[in-house]
Amino acid sequence: MVNNDDGAAVRARGLRIVRGARTVIDGLDLDVPAGQVVGLLGPSGSGKTTLLRSIVGVQANVTGDLTVLGAPAGSPGLRRRVGYMTQAASVYTDLSVIENLVHFAALAGRRGAAAHAAAADAVAAVDLGGHEKQQVGSLSGGERSRVSLAAVLVGDPELLVLDEPTVGLDPVLRRDLWDMFHRLSGEGRTLLVSSHVMDEAARCDRLLLLRGGALVADTTPDELLAQTGAPDAERAFLTLIDRANTGTGTGTDAGTASSGGVR
Ligand SMILES: Nc1ncnc2c1ncn2[C@@H]1O[C@H](COP(=O)(O)OP(=O)(O)O)[C@@H](O)[C@H]1O
Ligand SMILES: [Mg+2]
Repeated sequence: MVNNDDGAAVRARGLRIVRGARTVIDGLDLDVPAGQVVGLLGPSGSGKTTLLRSIVGVQANVTGDLTVLGAPAGSPGLRRRVGYMTQAASVYTDLSVIENLVHFAALAGRRGAAAHAAAADAVAAVDLGGHEKQQVGSLSGGERSRVSLAAVLVGDPELLVLDEPTVGLDPVLRRDLWDMFHRLSGEGRTLLVSSHVMDEAARCDRLLLLRGGALVADTTPDELLAQTGAPDAERAFLTLIDRANTGTGTGTDAGTASSGGVR
């Protein structure tokens, strides 16, 4: 509804991604509007990670048009403008929290005091104060994923691509992170945040619902509930799937949608 080509941080047309023998995504069109918190929601195996990997330019066998911040996905010029948090923590377990963050700040072009200031800001943003000198290997899983998020923040990216950043976190911390995502988008950044937890839909400005590598809906939380008459996002998602399977869908569903799709 609010989409237009000029305002899109990510624009995909006819996107096709093959992994191994499997075509995971087959002819996907989507827009991620700039300056919003956009949720990429879908069950495990729906293609979220594959799609995010293509957007940050680390996925092989991608065809079709994929434009990120106005440039082809994976262009060298995007490296410092796009921050990517992988699903598995991608920080060094044998370094402390602060050593990791200073390292990632340096990779993003910050040196000396600027790197340390960015690291300290990121520690505060993800609420890891007091753990600065702790080795990452000795942190809990949730703490480690927050270090990964902080490692993205130190680069000050325009587009943050976050793969299931809130998995395994307690509800208070999850809420705090979503609040932070909205603060970051308020500064004009775009956040593309994946989750398989449907109730996170309510926290997004915009939703992309994925199933079997196809877009089931491109909507807002309010529109999703209004269109389906469902009381929550999980049941709305099921309603959309049922409609797609009985042929009364919106036409964005692809052939894989009825297969149960996870493996
Ligand atoms: N390296 C790979 N080779 C072949 N198929 C893969 C590979 N990685 C993922 N897939 C398949 O791609 C599909 C989408 O996976 P993924 O993008 O990880 O989904 P999600 O992140 O939504 O759980 C799944 O069917 C998965 O089995
Ligand atoms: Mg995934």
